[in-house]
This record gives sequence, structure tokens and C-alpha cells, in this order.
Amino acid sequence: MNKHLAYGVVIASFAILQGCTSPSKNEAPSATAPSGSATDEIAKYREMIADGNPADLYDAAGEEIWKKPMGPKNVSLQKCDLGKGPGVVKGASAELPRYFKDTNKVQDLESRLVTCMVKLQGYDANEIIKAGFEKGKRKDIEAVVAYVVANSKGMPIKVSVKHPKEKEMYELGKKSFFFQGGPMDFSCASCHAEDNKRIRLQDLPNITKPQGAALGWGYWPAYRVSSGNFWTMQRRLNDCYRQQRFPEPIYISDNTIALSMYMAVNANGGLVNTPGLKR
Ligand code: HEC
Repeated sequence: MNKHLAYGVVIASFAILQGCTSPSKNEAPSATAPSGSATDEIAKYREMIADGNPADLYDAAGEEIWKKPMGPKNVSLQKCDLGKGPGVVKGASAELPRYFKDTNKVQDLESRLVTCMVKLQGYDANEIIKAGFEKGKRKDIEAVVAYVVANSKGMPIKVSVKHPKEKEMYELGKKSFFFQGGPMDFSCASCHAEDNKRIRLQDLPNITKPQGAALGWGYWPAYRVSSGNFWTMQRRLNDCYRQQRFPEPIYISDNTIALSMYMAVNANGGLVNTPGLKR
């Protein structure tokens, strides 16, 4: 993909967004934006940029990292089993999280990548977990995530709850989703369990229903225009814990995977649209 074109489109689109948040002087005074119009502008802008999602740059970098021998053992990730057999990337993320026999755990894409980096390449799991977003090996994970999720684009979301551990994880996720606490007594459900809810310009999907779950789950990981970087699902969740005024979750902790499991299963049958493009 053409890099310059992508950045050009991003800049042009920023101008449009600016236009919709601060109405231009030529506008008639009566033309104060009705609440629907900002959403329309964002939809238009997404359409414009659809052929040049900057996530493509992460995808390309991720493919290189996937194939390159690295780490203390100097091997690539090409034998990493994301659930469909060693090295199979196509369709893998459409079926994650899932149960893995070798770890005896339900894993999401990121925790599985950490497993591969530890087992195949010899990296230290704790170092990766503690690194922080966009730091050290985590930066590589983020790029590889973009590469992997792009390989399920357009496929139906198909996450299993057949295995007892998968069922257990879904139930834990559901519990967590409705668990209220913190200074505001918020749960995920406070912001994500009603139809037509929005905060500022953001439509908040009702994640408890299939259609809303597909909108939420199916478009993440995504390139986030407002922060100018690519966010994995772990990062999306981390930020929502913050919005909930909860303590920061530990990267790839069971609770974050359980929440993903809950959202993914609710989204079953919807389409994978990753990498998405978000405000
Ligand atoms: C105080 C309100 C609030 C709470 C509580 C909250 N979120 Fe969010 N959530 C948001 C907002 C606002 C956005 C959109 C953010 C953005 O794009 O800047 C969002 C976005 C999301 C998205 C992406 C939706 C989309 O269409 O892009 C998911 C998935 C999500 N939240 C899950 C969760 C989960 C799981 C929890 C509980 C751990 C949670 N949220 C708690 C406000 C909240």
C-alpha cells in the first residue's frame, strides 16, 4: 500500500473532523449541528479512509516480524499455533479466544502470542507483561496482532464455548461485565448495555446483544485516529477499565481474556472487520 497516500488521507480527514466539531464561520447561525450529523460526518470520513487504513502499515511490519528469526533462540513465529495449527494465520483471530491444550488455558490473541514468544523464541513473559503498550517486545506484538487480525477480515466471528474452560471463561466474562464498583459504581454495562447510548461523539454499542457485540468486538483491534496509533483489544480494554475508574488491569490477565470471551461469543455470527478504524 502507498504510505504517502495513507497519511495524506489521514490529514485530509482530520480537517473534516475539525470541521464537524467547530462549525465554520460561513455556516448560518441556525445550522447548529443536530446530534445525528457528527455521526454522519464520522461515517463519511470512515468511508473515505477505508482504502487507506494506517493499520495497514502495522500489518506489513507485523508480517515481517512474524517471519523473522528473533529472540534468545533466534527462531521466527512461523510455527506459532494460534488454534488452527502451527503457522496458520488465516481465519485464526475469528475463532479467538479459545482453549489451548498445551497451556490448558483459554487464550486471546495477545496472550497466545506471548506464549509463542516465550516457548518458541525464548523471551521472558514477565518482561513482556510489564513493558507497557508500545514498549519493547509489546510493540512487536501490536504489529503482529495487526497482521494476524487482517487475515480474518470478512470472515464470520466463530468463537466456541464447547470446552468446559471456554464456558467457564464466558461466565466469568459475563460476571465481570456486570460487576459494579469503583468511585462511580460503574460496570462495563453502565456504558455498554443500552441501545443508542453515546458519550460525546462516540456511539456506544450495546455489547449484551449480538448486533452491538459485533460492532464492538468486530471492529477491534483498530487504528485510532485520535491517538494516532494502533490499539489491540487489550489496550481497548485497558482504557475502558480507566473509564470505569477501576485499577489498571494486568496485561493478558484472565479477567481481560474473560471479558473478550464474553464479547466475542455475544458477537458470534457477526463479521470480523479488523483492523478497524476508529475515532
Ligand atoms: C464510563 C463509561 C464506560 C465504561 C464503564 C466502559 N466503557 Fe467501554 N467505551 C466507552 C467509550 C466512551 C468508548 C469509545 C471510546 C473511544 O473511542 O474513545 C468505549 C469503547 C469500548 C469498546 C469499543 C466499542 C466500539 O464500537 O468501538 C469496547 C469493546 C468496550 N468499550 C468495552 C468495555 C468493557 C469490556 C468495559 C468494562 C471493563 C467497558 N467498556 C467499560 C465508555 C465506557
